[in-house]
Amino acid sequence: PLPILTSAPGKVILFGEHAAVYGEPAIAAAVSSLRTYLLVSNANDPNIIQLDFLDIKLTHQWECNDFSTIPTIQPSTKELDSTLLKSIDPLLSSFKSNPLHHQAALTFLYLFFSLIPNLKGLKFSVRSTLPVGAGLGSSASICVSLSTALLHLAKLISIPLNKAQLKLINDWAFIGEKCMHGNPSGIDNTVATYGNSILLNSQSHEIIDIDLPILLTYTKIPRSTKQLVSNVRHMYNSHHAIVSKILSSIGHITLESKDLLLADASDIDSLGELININQHLLQSINVSHPMIEKIIKLTNQFQIGYTKLTGAGGGGCTLTLLKKDVDRKDVDRFINILKKDYNFDVFETNLGGF
Ligand code: PMV
Repeated sequence: PLPILTSAPGKVILFGEHAAVYGEPAIAAAVSSLRTYLLVSNANDPNIIQLDFLDIKLTHQWECNDFSTIPTIQPSTKELDSTLLKSIDPLLSSFKSNPLHHQAALTFLYLFFSLIPNLKGLKFSVRSTLPVGAGLGSSASICVSLSTALLHLAKLISIPLNKAQLKLINDWAFIGEKCMHGNPSGIDNTVATYGNSILLNSQSHEIIDIDLPILLTYTKIPRSTKQLVSNVRHMYNSHHAIVSKILSSIGHITLESKDLLLADASDIDSLGELININQHLLQSINVSHPMIEKIIKLTNQFQIGYTKLTGAGGGGCTLTLLKKDVDRKDVDRFINILKKDYNFDVFETNLGGF
């Protein structure tokens, strides 16, 4: 039954970025107002499959005859299947010059052939309010929207979703993330699937109910997560005794903040102290940026709350937890300066939700 509309939120890391790479816990949360929407509808022609990913300017259509060479196999939800990858490769030739288009089309085709290879005449339209490449999990929110719609078309899930079905969505979205990123941690798709906020460690995840007002600032300064993670690794190897303690301190901050969120999520000032300490530790391993420091200075100047980088750092985004008794005029001044003087994007949103 068409149309089908699915949607999934973006994410921010509240505590624990970089330390998570070394097995420390992290807390990530959904940003429910920044999200991806997927509409599956009838294509113009019953013998084609259409893609319309407007935000990355990708429109494409395949004739279903093009698909006749793809073997029917049962790929697992655990790892990428090289036979399937090889067989969809010829369908990707027209995307080779644009890496983003290539990744998006690869992800679509992989999930499509894994879940509903026989359906024709479908159009997949994606729209997102998330900036792409900002570390806010835009690709994971696409993967969750896509795996939900495809699993529904394959009659493997139905509303209301139970625990096992949510896990299935998350597992397939993780496979989609692997198509896009090679070796992702799984944080982004887990938050996009379950929403709310999630304490993640290497073995498990635990959902923590939160709803916190924040400002999310996107500096638009490009950064490479891979490069930043590798820089931290270098520092970890050359100053092991010091850096390992910094990273385990970040892990302690995450655990303390979890206790705080469970006990009294309205204690913004205590949470803010942990945000400040975490930011200073991140700065000490050199993943901040002069512009991130500038945003922190302005936060303190206007006394509106507590700011730290979120995600890999080196540019990207900051989150500002707003104080409870904050003066609206000060928040507006802060936002104005960031937008007008620095050309940053500022989103007023909440952490938590679905
Ligand atoms: O760049 P983002 O927002 O996807 O965050 C990366 C988080 C790191 O801890 C730096 C890396 C990771 O895989 O956990």
